[in-house]
Amino acid sequence: MCGIIGYIGKQKASPILLNGLQRLEYRGYDSAGLAVLEKGQFNALKRTGRVENLRKPVLAADSQARLGISHTRWATHGGVTEANAHPHVSWDGRLALVHNGVIENYKAIKRELEAKGIEFKSETDSEALVNLIAYFYNLELKESGKSHKQALLQALRTALYQVEGTYGIGIMCTDLPEHMIGARKGSPLVIGVGKGENLLASDVTAFAGRTQNVVYLSDGQIAYLSEEDFEITNIDAETVSPHIDTISWDIEDAELGAYPHYMLKEIFEQPMAIENAMRGRFSQDGSTAQFGGLNIDPRELRQIDRILFLGCGTAWHSCLVAEYLIEKYARIPVEVEYASEFRYRNAPLDKNTLVFTVSQSGETIDTLEAQREAKRKGYRVLGITNVVGSTIARENDGGIYQHSGPEIGVASTKAFTAQVHIAAMLALYLGRMRDMSFSEGIQIVNALKKAPGMVAQVLNQTEHIKEIAERFAEKSDYLFLGRQAMFPIALEGALKLKEVSYIHAEGYPAAEMKHGPIALISPECPTVAFAMKSEIFQKSLANVQEIRARKGPVIAITDAGKDFPADLADAVIEIPEAHEVVQPVLASIPVQLLAYYTALARNCDVDKPRNLAKSVTVE
Ligand code: F6R
Repeated sequence: MCGIIGYIGKQKASPILLNGLQRLEYRGYDSAGLAVLEKGQFNALKRTGRVENLRKPVLAADSQARLGISHTRWATHGGVTEANAHPHVSWDGRLALVHNGVIENYKAIKRELEAKGIEFKSETDSEALVNLIAYFYNLELKESGKSHKQALLQALRTALYQVEGTYGIGIMCTDLPEHMIGARKGSPLVIGVGKGENLLASDVTAFAGRTQNVVYLSDGQIAYLSEEDFEITNIDAETVSPHIDTISWDIEDAELGAYPHYMLKEIFEQPMAIENAMRGRFSQDGSTAQFGGLNIDPRELRQIDRILFLGCGTAWHSCLVAEYLIEKYARIPVEVEYASEFRYRNAPLDKNTLVFTVSQSGETIDTLEAQREAKRKGYRVLGITNVVGSTIARENDGGIYQHSGPEIGVASTKAFTAQVHIAAMLALYLGRMRDMSFSEGIQIVNALKKAPGMVAQVLNQTEHIKEIAERFAEKSDYLFLGRQAMFPIALEGALKLKEVSYIHAEGYPAAEMKHGPIALISPECPTVAFAMKSEIFQKSLANVQEIRARKGPVIAITDAGKDFPADLADAVIEIPEAHEVVQPVLASIPVQLLAYYTALARNCDVDKPRNLAKSVTVE
């Protein structure tokens, strides 16, 4: 949420910052701004709306500056105006700052500074922060006779001690034209270590094409960068030796290529994402899964008698699938909780509970804080994350990387199905440690291995699904109904549709429909009904009958082939018949495509839906 990128080096900063901002735009797109430091003063440009609106004026200005900071905003405090857009320059013109996060006590800070005669130009919490740092900086310079560097770092520390909340910040100072400063607490910040240049950003995607060498900052750390060097200290001014990581993906992974939207590209990347989730993760005898990074002894795992899964949004839905599969195949009781609820609820946990956090970005603040809370209480916390080196991945006790590649579309698709597939592998792994037989293990491994090919088969129906989406695109409400492991997919289908097409949609366990949502059924409210072949197939068909009896249009997603009565639905999307552990992944593909093409038919911006941002780093 909010993207920041700063550059210091030998090249013109502005075009590099614009490209970085474009890549970070999925973190927020309410406004964008950029400031460079040139001849002792800041030149800042800001525009509401997309980074594209900023590109023209910035390129026209053709600044030669080699130092700059920039920001793409997801508004929290203050409306979407140019005055509220970042960078914010301190009242005395000495500091410029970009900020991702929330300063919770900004009103008190602002009041105190205003009482000292300092004027504010915006409604943001971030301006309170830059003015507070500048206030202490002026005091340091007056009182101590320190160098500009020492004074600024000291002022920054004093200010950061006073602020409550979260921040990932980039700062320039007119007195330090060869340096840029970054600091973080609760919001991600990464240094991109280049040749003769250094960058600072909230996300490594911003560095694509410039450097793959990165240093992830931890909470409480401050980075002081020049074009050739950087140093890291903590809030108590102790030096921290940096660890340089190399990111493994290529620039193309973060590019659109021939696709019109990231969402469609990522939907089509699912066979590969699922293949990657499985790579090297089956035992030699082919009867179970194995995970290198769990950092937990199998004997210890055997003692676990409860698992708690925590996540938000789409990741929470993948946790629900994990609940169905792990309880069924490993017979371990599983609970799923919204990370945001868990962190404040003080839930009693049994000592043999294992906690899993699930997060694509590895930066979602509620999931991160829930993880910290569980760790604080002494529980072992493992994670399922996509972004390598993310805060959640670095802070947990071990876990499973998804290897889905960068997910740029705001609506999560490939990361979700990879999480669901990993959940199935986990059910197998835990099941084989307990009562699952060798032959059942072999059967499940074989089924899981077939998933990428089957996903590709569903993707072959894209034209058919597009036609269905267009047929119902004008409707204003949708219901999604599924039983058992299809229930989380119903929730996910409803979330995808409302997120990208703004159609009101609800997901329900199919049988629950009769307890209320059936009142919504009308010719204006289509139902997407999952009807999978299983012991409750007939029950699912009965639910569809109930909708038809009330003249509700039905889009059926089924693996039953000819066993699905053709006249029972207005449209049928067939998915291949597969083992139950693979069904949730296969059933997800049609609802993703349905949401995508519905959004297109309604002229919605699928990659950047209104009000949303990827990676929710504010509460
Ligand atoms: C929906 C979506 C969100 C995220 C949620 C958690 O398409 O993407 O609901 O799933 O914000 O994000 P992560 O997985 O990054 O923790």
